[in-house]
Amino acid sequence: MTIDHEVSAEQRSREEDLLQRVLRSFDTCEDPRLDEIMRSLVTHLHAFVREVRLTEAEWNKAIEFLTAVGRITDDKRQEFILLSDVLGASMQTITVNNEAVGDATEATVFGPFFVENSPRIDNGGDISFGAKGQPCWVEGTVRDTDGKPVPGARIEVWEADDDGFYDVQYDDDRTAARAHLFTDEDGGYRFWAITPTPYPIPHDGPVGQLLQAVGRSPLRAAHLHFMVTAPGARRLVTHIFVRGDELLDRDSVFGVKASLVKDFVQRLAGTPTPDGCVVESDWARVRFDIVLAPEEAS
Ligand code: BEZ
Ligand code: FE
Repeated sequence: MTIDHEVSAEQRSREEDLLQRVLRSFDTCEDPRLDEIMRSLVTHLHAFVREVRLTEAEWNKAIEFLTAVGRITDDKRQEFILLSDVLGASMQTITVNNEAVGDATEATVFGPFFVENSPRIDNGGDISFGAKGQPCWVEGTVRDTDGKPVPGARIEVWEADDDGFYDVQYDDDRTAARAHLFTDEDGGYRFWAITPTPYPIPHDGPVGQLLQAVGRSPLRAAHLHFMVTAPGARRLVTHIFVRGDELLDRDSVFGVKASLVKDFVQRLAGTPTPDGCVVESDWARVRFDIVLAPEEAS
């Protein structure tokens, strides 16, 4: 929705003159990249203020909002990243920095719930460590863009439980629904996880208030996080999403890409499992074949 604001030629020239003065203030900048970024930022910021004819009260409200974002941020809670996420700025930065290379798997948001030093499991192991949810068999291969298998690739996986919480959101220091494993000689991997379910991003702070003010939901489409690293390959941070999830086209952080939506095939209790494990409830299985771009592709 754009509203046309009439501005006289005299007024336009005053505003333009101010912008040019601010831009000239960067003439002393000796770092060409910083110079480029600051000039562009100022140009877009002034264009925004002028386009919407921002009132002084509105600017003060924006400052109050950013102050609240800063106040709630600490070493456990990063509200600025959350703000960047809900504005699509995180996804746009990821998109710009992960140019398409052959059929390399697409990247998506990192999110705040990755933890270093996750437990290692063997191929075929279980990442759930007791987390509540429907058992889900996940399998696939890791290859390079020439189609060659990548043995020894490190795969980190993490997800929320059936109640929509990551282990780190509980206050009992549990480690659950996260682990890492390595691909085998053929680049294959397989593990038990839980079928992802939708959950909200943290929405009890200023970013949650913003979402509410504009009528947006904090829910994320159900997903399972992956981070895959291997020597000579570009690090891949991504998720897989569940085909049929009604949130796919309104993920609160714009993380969904069609290529990452996978079939989570439902199986009845008692159906034989791929590894011969007896599963007494219904379970699901999904395949995710991963292609890593070469390191030099950025
Ligand atoms: C997540 O995937 O868990 C997430 C991503 C962005 C913001 C908040 C949560
Ligand atoms: Fe997540």
